[in-house]
Amino acid sequence: MKATTLPKFGLFLCSGHEEVKMKVASALITAVAAFTAYYVYRPMPSTVSEPWKLMLLDATFRCAQDLCNLADYFGLGHRLRVLYYVSSCDKNDPVSSGNLKVTDTIFDGVEVRVYEPTSEPHGTMKRSIVYIHGGGWALGGARTRSYDSLCRKVSEDVNAVVVSIEYRLVPDVHFPTPLNDVLTATKHFLLPDVLQTYSIDPDRIAVSGDSAGGNLAAAVCQQLTENPNQTIKLKLQALVYPALQILDFNTPSYQQNTDMPVLSRLGMIKYWLDYLNVSLALTHSMLVNNHTSLDSGETVALRERLNWNTLLPVSFKKNYKPVVQSIGNPSLVQKFPALLDARASPLIATKETLQLLPKTYILTCEHDVLRDDGTMFAKRLQEAGIDVTHDHYDDGFHGCMSFTTWPTYFLVGARARDGYVKWLKENL
Ligand SMILES: *[C@@H]1O[C@H](CO)[C@@H](O)[C@H](O)[C@H]1NC(C)=O
Ligand SMILES: *[C@@H]1O[C@H](CO)[C@@H](O)[C@H](O)[C@H]1NC(C)=O
Ligand SMILES: *[C@@H]1O[C@H](CO)[C@@H](O)[C@H](O)[C@H]1NC(C)=O
Repeated sequence: MKATTLPKFGLFLCSGHEEVKMKVASALITAVAAFTAYYVYRPMPSTVSEPWKLMLLDATFRCAQDLCNLADYFGLGHRLRVLYYVSSCDKNDPVSSGNLKVTDTIFDGVEVRVYEPTSEPHGTMKRSIVYIHGGGWALGGARTRSYDSLCRKVSEDVNAVVVSIEYRLVPDVHFPTPLNDVLTATKHFLLPDVLQTYSIDPDRIAVSGDSAGGNLAAAVCQQLTENPNQTIKLKLQALVYPALQILDFNTPSYQQNTDMPVLSRLGMIKYWLDYLNVSLALTHSMLVNNHTSLDSGETVALRERLNWNTLLPVSFKKNYKPVVQSIGNPSLVQKFPALLDARASPLIATKETLQLLPKTYILTCEHDVLRDDGTMFAKRLQEAGIDVTHDHYDDGFHGCMSFTTWPTYFLVGARARDGYVKWLKENL
């Protein structure tokens, strides 16, 4: 073959030799097709919102994730740190507008961004929402474009002061530091003189968050409710597709949505292990529920608190079978005390704790591994006598509320956000 004698690849393209051009073109087409087949084409359930768009979003995410794993492999940095820089490079400065004052400040050592509606006369008492962003305790931020625009919208539409917390992230810190950051900032905000500075009505304050932020919001709410020293109490908690438990990775939603974008089952387990500073070598034990086998002592009783056979509706259970190992990995519980900690898994709180909690909003999505975490929590709260609104989106997927700006706008995301805002408006 003549072409092999050419010294440089570039010469192939400009050699004018038709046969060579054809070969290069077909190689390129094969490469693009392989890339497309590998990354883009994933069958999506027909009931999910805008499946083609979701497929492209998912491909982008997986490609970024693989590149970060590669960077980690070559020693360029922890995969989560690399992913953080890739995904959170779109930080916004605090920009005030005609009817909103936006400032970055510090609450008792923790960074926060505060959104204050300015349309009413100065000194008018306002409602308020403490917002905790999601991102697997490792990604995202109060200052990123998607959370900044969500908080602006919530602040304007509900006409409430929003405090968005920039807590520290994994892998710089681990459980319980992110929770303690959020708790510290919230407690500081709830001090009477701080509330007065922002003209907040102390009887009308909510805590809210999505995904990992929903986990932190639920944990903060329990911590503050249980603390007898906390005189100013939260009026509401609003949890958007929250992660609430680490004891069962085989709930029907985990089984049904194993490979769903934006969050796979394996991905969620890894976020948990990194958050709790436990080796990723345990991933496979967790996948088969070996960490909560019948010989694991204390976890057996705790699993009763997330017994989805009684806590989920038939339409969610379908024909899925519980995964319970009789012999597993009992030594894990000793190495891994956070397994038993309700500050990590708010779903396992006692009934006595749940009874004290405020009125609650829970949003879940059908195509989400975390659907049953939120659904079981709603059910347990109702059984404890709490007023719960549970909004479930049949065409929703995990994280959809963050995808409401160009170029990743999803109709179901906007609908979910609007329903959430409406509930806050009516109940706060
Ligand atoms: C409540 O305050 C008392 C006195 O300051 C302190 O000793 C106690 O630890 C506090 N309790 C909690 C749960 O923070
Ligand atoms: C996390 O785990 C590593 C290795 O086991 C340990 O050196 C480190 O101190 C842990 N960090 C925290 C915050 O517990
Ligand atoms: C689960 O535990 C059993 C008993 O210790 C063990 O035989 C099995 O290999 C474990 N499975 C995984 C995936 O670790």
